[in-house]
Amino acid sequence: MKAIVLVEPGKFVIEERPVPEPGPGEALIRVKVAGLCGSDLHGFRGTQPFITYPRVMGHEFSGEIAALGPGYKGPFQEGDRVVVDPVVNCGRCYACRTGNHNVCREVQVLGVHRDGAFAEYLTVRTDRIHKIPAGLDFSTAALIEPLSIGAEANRRASVRDGDQVVIIGAGPIGLVSLLIAKTKDTQVMITDRVQSRLDLAEQLGADRVVNIDKEDPYQAVEEFTNGEGAGAVIEAVGLEATIRQSMEFVAPSGRVALLGLSEGELKLPVILLIKKGVDFHGSRLNCNQFPGVISLLESGRIDPRPLISREYPFEQVEEAMRSFDESPEEVTKVLLKF
Ligand SMILES: NC(=O)c1ccc[n+]([C@@H]2O[C@H](COP(=O)([O-])OP(=O)(O)OC[C@H]3O[C@@H](n4cnc5c(N)ncnc54)[C@H](O)[C@@H]3O)[C@@H](O)[C@H]2O)c1
Ligand SMILES: [Zn+2]
Ligand SMILES: [Zn+2]
Repeated sequence: MKAIVLVEPGKFVIEERPVPEPGPGEALIRVKVAGLCGSDLHGFRGTQPFITYPRVMGHEFSGEIAALGPGYKGPFQEGDRVVVDPVVNCGRCYACRTGNHNVCREVQVLGVHRDGAFAEYLTVRTDRIHKIPAGLDFSTAALIEPLSIGAEANRRASVRDGDQVVIIGAGPIGLVSLLIAKTKDTQVMITDRVQSRLDLAEQLGADRVVNIDKEDPYQAVEEFTNGEGAGAVIEAVGLEATIRQSMEFVAPSGRVALLGLSEGELKLPVILLIKKGVDFHGSRLNCNQFPGVISLLESGRIDPRPLISREYPFEQVEEAMRSFDESPEEVTKVLLKF
């Protein structure tokens, strides 16, 4: 099989490798479509703290079951169309025992800590597999993992009917959070400085978009929430300025979910969290969000297809990565086809 190996930052090599054999409790997946994510870009640039090289990246993907490991008894069959939750956990630590395997002490993510889906085949644990509905194409299904990040952020911010929600950042992660937030009876405002991403947000159902280079986001939140602040804020940028905004934009008794990965230690007005009695939550990966996302797609309640900007044959991975890196005005999600 062919595998896209990131041998060092900035250098992909397409290698011929043996097709892996699924062990007990594992399945062999024939990859159909894999998405490029910001963390893959960081891996490519050499700025992803968790990755080691050489590495086959890829954690957002869809495919078919090509084989099941010895002794398998369960719901899957060869040929099933599936997606795979890339979060692998230990099952023993405090987080695992309390049902939060996404923050397992030894959490490993396919394509980051171990080889992932930028290859024609990979083996995965069968308890991480989910079937996809017959009508769902492989490209849309490859967005289930990023959608699960948005679903997790909505859970962590307890987004509920009647809420006014502010999402900071309209990159892929802010936009999937928007799609999920709009499945509730909410009003959603989203900020960014890239107008085309804000236009896309409007297309996906945002009630108010704010280009921070043209408008003051503080004043916009004041107006949008009638001076109350937002019941829920989802931070999807990771800068000191935007994390500060999340603390300032949230209403007293409101909730914040922090997604954006920041570098270093930040100076922030933490006293606001106490004054306002805010629930300030970190949101990492996803905790069992795949089934909910799949049923939202199946019922047609969300349509993430406008997020797909470009699809490339996997052999053109470098070009795909470059377009993802260099043109945020034109590119939101880029997919590789196998
Ligand atoms: N916690 C998690 O599980 C998780 C998962 C995936 C990604 N992330 C992180 O979430 C963040 C967003 O991911 P992404 O893929 O959408 O990244 P991205 O870089 O594509 O998007 C970030 C967006 O923020 C915008 N932006 C920059 N400064 C801004 C400002 N001051 N106000 C408003 N918008 C601003 C940018 O124009 C861009 O559109 C990243 O930090 C990423 O590492 C976290
Ligand atoms: Zn991702
Ligand atoms: Zn664990």
